[in-house]
Formats: sequence, structure tokens, C-alpha cells
Amino acid sequence: MGADGDLIPGRRARGCRAFACCRGSEVLAYGWLSAGPEWIGELGLEIRPEAGEAYVWNCLTLDPHRRQGRFREIVLAIASSARKEGITRLWIGTIGDLGVRTLPEIGFTPVLCFAVQNLPWIRYLRVWPAEEADARLVEAARSALRADGRPLLGGSVLGRHGRRRH
Ligand SMILES: CC(C)(COP(=O)(O)OP(=O)(O)OC[C@H]1O[C@@H](n2cnc3c(N)ncnc32)[C@H](O)[C@@H]1OP(=O)(O)O)[C@@H](O)C(=O)NCCC(=O)NCCS
Repeated sequence: MGADGDLIPGRRARGCRAFACCRGSEVLAYGWLSAGPEWIGELGLEIRPEAGEAYVWNCLTLDPHRRQGRFREIVLAIASSARKEGITRLWIGTIGDLGVRTLPEIGFTPVLCFAVQNLPWIRYLRVWPAEEADARLVEAARSALRADGRPLLGGSVLGRHGRRRH
């Protein structure tokens, strides 16, 4: 994890788990899985998975190994391990077109969409249901996500800037 390697002990202490795709002793890609509360820096929101749920995050493929299906491999490995453990729902966030083919093939379905606007003093977040999203999933996603500790009920949220290392 390069300069972020110092975050590993804290993550493990709060129960997060890392999955890695390796060739011999070389790590090609990794991704993290959390069943407890986790910060989503890109959105400035917290996710609190319910019982039987978990959140896949901080997936990264090391530079020379990108565009060779490693992200897909990692997410598949995490999903299959989670399924064996009895986790029935995984949440994942993507940006732009990343994984538009891969994620539905693994079984993910779009639930909520976000647009982030960083204004000089404030972050403005718009939230809306993905096209044809199941209403129960939209409700579940909104209740798993927290803005300043409160479930994400409305269509927009104002928040503060600020990076958290976690
Ligand atoms: C994003 C990232 C994890 C992709 O890893 P990868 O191993 O190269 O991805 P794969 O080869 O398995 O491709 C998976 C999908 O992502 C797409 N993809 C890969 N890199 C992409 C990029 N830079 N931009 C847009 N889409 C990309 C692939 O086309 C593929 O799409 P598909 O599902 O529609 O077929 C990797 O580029 C990375 O580590 N980036 C920096 C960290 C980051 O942005 N993480 C994502 C947010 S947590």
C-alpha cells in the first residue's frame, strides 16, 4: 500500500480485512472488506453495513498490472469469500465507467448515484436512485449511508471538505 501502509494496523484492529491478488510473493492488486462503519472519502459519507452486509473498498491494482482483469479478480474473490461466510449483501462504490461490465457480471446492481461538487467552503452532494433500481435496495442503501450521523434521506447533502486517512 506504499505510503498508506501505516494504515494497515488500524484497519485490522477495527476488523477490516484485506484481500490480495498475488503472483508468488508479488502483490498485483488488493481490496478491503469491512462489516463495520467505514468512511467514504469520495462522498464525505459514512457507511454502516447492516447485519449480513459488508462494504468493499480501497480496491487498487498496482500500475504495471492494470487493465488485465485484476480488479475483477479481486472483487470476485471478495464476493465469493463473503458469500461463504453468510454475508448476503455487499456494497461497493465506483467512479465513472469503472466496472460497468464487470460488476453486474459478479452480481452487483446499481442502486444510488451521486454527483459531488466541491465549492470553496463546502461540498455539495446530490443523491438519486439509479435507473430501475429496486425501491427496497434504494431504501437499504440510504439507511446504510450516514451524513453527519444521520441516514441519507433527502436528495442533497451539504458537507465539509477534509481528507481523512483511514
Ligand atoms: C481502477 C482500478 C482498480 C482498475 O483495476 P484493473 O485491474 O486495471 O481493472 P480490470 O482490468 O479488472 O478492469 C475492470 C473494469 O474497469 C475498467 N477500467 C480499468 N481501469 C479503468 C480506468 N482507469 N478508467 C475507467 N475504467 C477502467 C475496465 O475497462 C473494466 O471495465 P468493465 O467492467 O466494463 O469491463 C485501477 O486502475 C486502480 O487501482 N486505480 C487507482 C485506484 C482507483 O481508482 N480505485 C477505484 C476506486 S476504489
